[in-house]
Amino acid sequence: MTTLINNIKQLIGTREETTLLRGNALANLPSIENAFILIEDGIIADYGAMYELELKVPQLPKDIIDAQGKFVLPCWCDSHTHLVFAASREEEFIDKIKGMSYADIAAKGGGILNSAKKLEAASEDELFLSAWKRLEEVSKLGTGAIEIKSGYGLSVQAELKMLRVIKKLKEKSNLCIKATFLGAHTFPLEYKENHQGYIDLIINEMLPVVANEKLADYIDVFCETGFFSPHEMEIICKAGMSYGLKPKLHINQLNSIGGIEAAIKLNAVSVDHLETMTDNDIKLLSGGTIPANLPGVIGTLLPTAAFFLRMNYQPARKLIDSNCAVALASDYNPGSSPSGNMNFVVALSCIQMKMLPEEAINAATLNGAYAMELQNEVGSITIGKKANLIFTKAIPSLPYLPYSFGNNLIDKVMIKGEFI
Ligand code: NIG
Ligand code: FE
Repeated sequence: MTTLINNIKQLIGTREETTLLRGNALANLPSIENAFILIEDGIIADYGAMYELELKVPQLPKDIIDAQGKFVLPCWCDSHTHLVFAASREEEFIDKIKGMSYADIAAKGGGILNSAKKLEAASEDELFLSAWKRLEEVSKLGTGAIEIKSGYGLSVQAELKMLRVIKKLKEKSNLCIKATFLGAHTFPLEYKENHQGYIDLIINEMLPVVANEKLADYIDVFCETGFFSPHEMEIICKAGMSYGLKPKLHINQLNSIGGIEAAIKLNAVSVDHLETMTDNDIKLLSGGTIPANLPGVIGTLLPTAAFFLRMNYQPARKLIDSNCAVALASDYNPGSSPSGNMNFVVALSCIQMKMLPEEAINAATLNGAYAMELQNEVGSITIGKKANLIFTKAIPSLPYLPYSFGNNLIDKVMIKGEFI
C-alpha cells in the first residue's frame, strides 16, 4: 500500500542520516516547508518539497492525503515509563500536599512498596487491560515508541508477571516497545536488613528466567540513598549484562551518590532522572571521558517527575551547554508522574528548563529513539524508517506547540503508516 501526503505546511525532523545529538547539535531541527512524504507499507519511502514532487514521484499513488497546511513531525519516542501498574496512588498525592516528601512516604511503606502490594493482587489479564488502555491513550497523544519497565513486582512471580504483560503488549501493539527489567526498584520489606538476600534473588532466581523467556531488553536499578547503592547497582548490572541486558538506570533523582560515575563505567545506554546533578556529574556525562568509539551515555530528563514531586528541575541548559546528549521522557508511573503526555513533557522542558523548542523536540524524538536503541527505526523523517507521524492541527509555527501548553494540538497520529 502506497500513500502520499502532500501540502504539508512544514515537515519536521527530516534527516538523510542520523547521529545522537549532543550539545549545540540539539538546536538543529531540519525541516522542509510546503512538503510531501511518501509512505510504502508503513515505511517512509521518500519526502521532499512540493516543487520536487513531480520529479521524485512521477507516478502518483491512488491514496493521497492533503495535509492542508498542517505540521507533520515524527512521533514521540518515550524512552522511560512504568506504564504497567495495578492502581493509581492519589492518596499519596494528598499526603504530599499536606507536607510529606517522596522519601517520607517511601519510608512508611508507601510509594513503590504500595504499588507492589497492589500489583501482587492483580491478575496478568487485569494488568494487561489497564496497560493497554494507557498505551492507547499515549499513542493518541503522539507517542509511537515507548520503553516500559517492571519493578512493581519485587518477587520472582510478580516481576515475571509484569514482564510477561509487557511482552504481550509488544506482541499486540503497533507501537515499538522496549522492555526493561527493574527488579532492583526497591528492597521488599522482608529484605530491608538483608540487601544481599534480595540481590541474590534478582541474580539467581529472576534474571535466568527473564533471559530464558527473552522478557527484557535492558536492566535498570534505582540507584539512590535508601534504595540501591552504586556498588549494589554495579553487581546487579554486571549480572544482567552477562545475559546481554544493557543498563538503563535511575540515577541522581534525589541525591548524587556516585551513580553517574558507576553508570559510565558500566557503559549504560542512559542515565535517567538527573534532578540532582553536581558540576562533576555534568562534566562526567559531557562525554570528555567517553572513548571515541562509544556513543556515550545519554542523559534522560524526566521533568514531569520533578514537576509532580515539586523538586528542582533537571539542569537541562547546563547539560546541553556542556555538550551532553539529552533525551526527554515521561516517566509515566503512579507515584511520581501519573501522566504519559509527551506534549506536556516537551512544553515543560521549554517553560521550566529553558530548552529551545527545537532542542526539546529533538530530545523527545531522535535522542529518545537512541535511548531505546531504536534510532534505525524511528525518531526522524528518514527514508527506511517507520511512518510514525504526528499531524498537528492548524498552528502558526512550531514553537506554538510548547508555547500553547496544555492544549491538544494534535489532529491525527499515524503509526506504521496507519491512522489510529
Ligand atoms: O522513576 N524513582 C523511582 N521510580 C519511579 C517512581 C516509582 C514510584 O513512585 O512508584 C520514578 O520516579
Ligand atoms: Fe522511572
